[in-house]
Amino acid sequence: MRDALVVLAVLAALAAGLWAWRRWHPGSFWLALRYPAAAVSVRASWRRVALGCGLTKKRQRFWFTTVPGLVASTGVVRVRRRFQRIAVDTKPFMWLPMPTRHGWRVTLHTLEGQTPGDYADAAEALAHSWGVHAIRASSPRPGRVVLMATVYDPLVKVEHLPASADLLTVTVGRLEDGRPWTIDFRVVPHWLNAGATQSGKSNLANALIVGLAPQPVALVGFDLKGGVEFTPYASRLSALATSRAESVTLLEDLVCLMIDRMGLCRQAGARNIWQLPPGIRPIPIVVLVDELAELYLMADKSEKDEIAKTSTALLRVAQLGRAFGIYLFCCGQRIGSDLGPGVTALRAQCSGRICHRVNDPETATMTLGDLDPAALVSARAIPAETPGVAIVAGQDGQWYRARSFYVTEQTAEHAARAHAHLTPSWDEITSHLPDTVNA
Ligand SMILES: Nc1ncnc2c1ncn2[C@@H]1O[C@H](COP(=O)(O)OP(=O)(O)OP(=O)(O)O)[C@@H](O)[C@H]1O
Ligand SMILES: [Mg+2]
Repeated sequence: MRDALVVLAVLAALAAGLWAWRRWHPGSFWLALRYPAAAVSVRASWRRVALGCGLTKKRQRFWFTTVPGLVASTGVVRVRRRFQRIAVDTKPFMWLPMPTRHGWRVTLHTLEGQTPGDYADAAEALAHSWGVHAIRASSPRPGRVVLMATVYDPLVKVEHLPASADLLTVTVGRLEDGRPWTIDFRVVPHWLNAGATQSGKSNLANALIVGLAPQPVALVGFDLKGGVEFTPYASRLSALATSRAESVTLLEDLVCLMIDRMGLCRQAGARNIWQLPPGIRPIPIVVLVDELAELYLMADKSEKDEIAKTSTALLRVAQLGRAFGIYLFCCGQRIGSDLGPGVTALRAQCSGRICHRVNDPETATMTLGDLDPAALVSARAIPAETPGVAIVAGQDGQWYRARSFYVTEQTAEHAARAHAHLTPSWDEITSHLPDTVNA
């Protein structure tokens, strides 16, 4: 009896120890216990899983048996002798699964006639077979496919990362592979940020404001929701337009500013403002637009001219802004061609794409364009319970699931107020422009 109690006590202590280990140091727990078990199970089940997911090929093999005919069930028996030539299902060669932060990664050798697309198509079936959250297939070089497994969804809870120290670079969240999600305007100058209502678009804009507020950049806001989103951050904004009429004036200012910077670069023999000596380099400007569609929606014919002006100016900023330090970040629920040809052209200029949860496949297609169809499926599968989760395309040409940090309006407001002294005034920025602009 006492022995049984001792055994029970030891087992309970062991279970509690394991629980605490997993709770307080999940990284080492994963590496020491769960990963080796997962690696063994993946290797051991590979034949069955590959067969079930349609990733095997029939190959002729010699087979030795002491009972001729017994192997008939395995395939086509050519010769009824002890050495027989039969067709067997061959699985792709698999290397050892290697641990990653949120799961494991394994390299496979493709079989003849297979493409990485075959593995991408089978990814969902593979994830179910191995009981993991998701599998992503990529191909580092011809003939090789890397399967990346994430065991749990790492985006359910996203903890903050340290801010980036680089100019115009903001760490806004985390990618599903555990790496930081950074938006670097000097690599990808213009961004589209789409999603249904309450999907986390403004939260991402808040994260950008918090990240950019301490940097030597000018922030300009277009808030066509009547200013309710950006007015609280006005102290860090060099200019804010809250109506269409104000937007037209501000956009014209931006175009003139761009032309002025063009002249400056030409005189100095520079291709862009970054080639200018720091002393005369103009300040970079990040333009944040919330509810982009409002800039294009026409209530009656009288607005036609205003819309045409807005659309042309925004497009010019997108086309030429990059070299002259003017960067766009446009948020909207729908960024479709139904808003007019200006939007389609603007979309083509924005190479950074972020698609939050969407209600219809068209919005996902419009935002992510002709990206991998799996990205579109993923965008549509984002649940409403996880606002801030998005499909991101940009920087390296790949697409990722990612989630922004939760940035409350109060946090963004506080950052804006704390760095208000860094705000260059719009008059100062536009002071040397021709009077027609300042008038
Ligand atoms: N990354 C995140 N993590 C946790 N919660 C979030 C995140 N992003 C957004 N949320 C929550 O979702 C709510 C809606 O987010 P947000 O206001 O950014 O949506 P939106 O897409 O701008 O909506 P709308 O189109 O109505 O303006 C926020 O109030 C916040 O509570
Ligand atoms: Mg919003």
